[in-house]
Amino acid sequence: MKDAMTVISERKSVRKYTGELISKSDIERILKAAMAAPSAMHMLPWKFVVVSEPDTLKQLSAQLPFAQMLEKAGTAIVVCAVTEEAAGGNEAFAILDCACASENILLAAEALGLGAVWTAVYPDEQLMIAVRKVLNIPGDIIPLNIIPVGYPAGEERAQDKYNPVNIHWGKWS
Ligand SMILES: Cc1cc2nc3c(=O)[nH]c(=O)nc-3n(C[C@H](O)[C@H](O)[C@H](O)COP(=O)(O)O)c2cc1C
Repeated sequence: MKDAMTVISERKSVRKYTGELISKSDIERILKAAMAAPSAMHMLPWKFVVVSEPDTLKQLSAQLPFAQMLEKAGTAIVVCAVTEEAAGGNEAFAILDCACASENILLAAEALGLGAVWTAVYPDEQLMIAVRKVLNIPGDIIPLNIIPVGYPAGEERAQDKYNPVNIHWGKWS
C-alpha cells in the first residue's frame, strides 16, 4: 500500500466506475478510516448510510444534478451529521467533524485503489430534504454529502494545487 503522503497527493475525484462492486471488507475499512477522523471534544457526531441497492442509487441520482455518477457507482456512502451529538450541540462542529470523516473516506478509497468523489448535499436545503426522503433519514440529521465509491474506469489524475501564494510565513503579508 502507498504511503500516506503519496495517497494524499494522488487523491482525486473519480466520477467514472467500471461497475464492479467493491467488497464489504473494503467498505468496512473505509468506514473505519472515516471514524478515525478528528472530532471536536471527541463527540463523534456522525452516522454513515451505505447504499448499494441499484434502485435507491438511481433515486438519489435523479434528485442530485451534480451526482449523476451515483447510478453507476455500485456503492455510495452518505455522511450524516448529528448536531445534538456534536460539541455544544453546535451544528458547525457536527459539519466540521463530518467533513474530516469525509476526507478520510476519500483518502481511504485512494489507498485501496478505489475511486470516490464528494457530491454535495449540505448546505442545499432542497437536496437535504430530497436525500432524507429517499433514505428515511430523520429531519434533525444533516446529510452532508454522498460519496460514491467504485473501481475507477478512467484515467483521472490528481491535480497539483500547491501554490506558495496561499502561504503567509510568520504574519499575513
Ligand atoms: C464541499 C464539496 C462539494 C462538492 N460537490 C461536488 C458535486 O456535487 N459533484 C461533483 O462531481 N464533485 C463535487 N465535489 C468535488 C470537487 O469538484 C473536486 O474536489 C474539485 O474539483 C477538485 O478536484 P479533485 O478532488 O480531483 O482534487 C465537491 C467537493 C467538495 C469539497
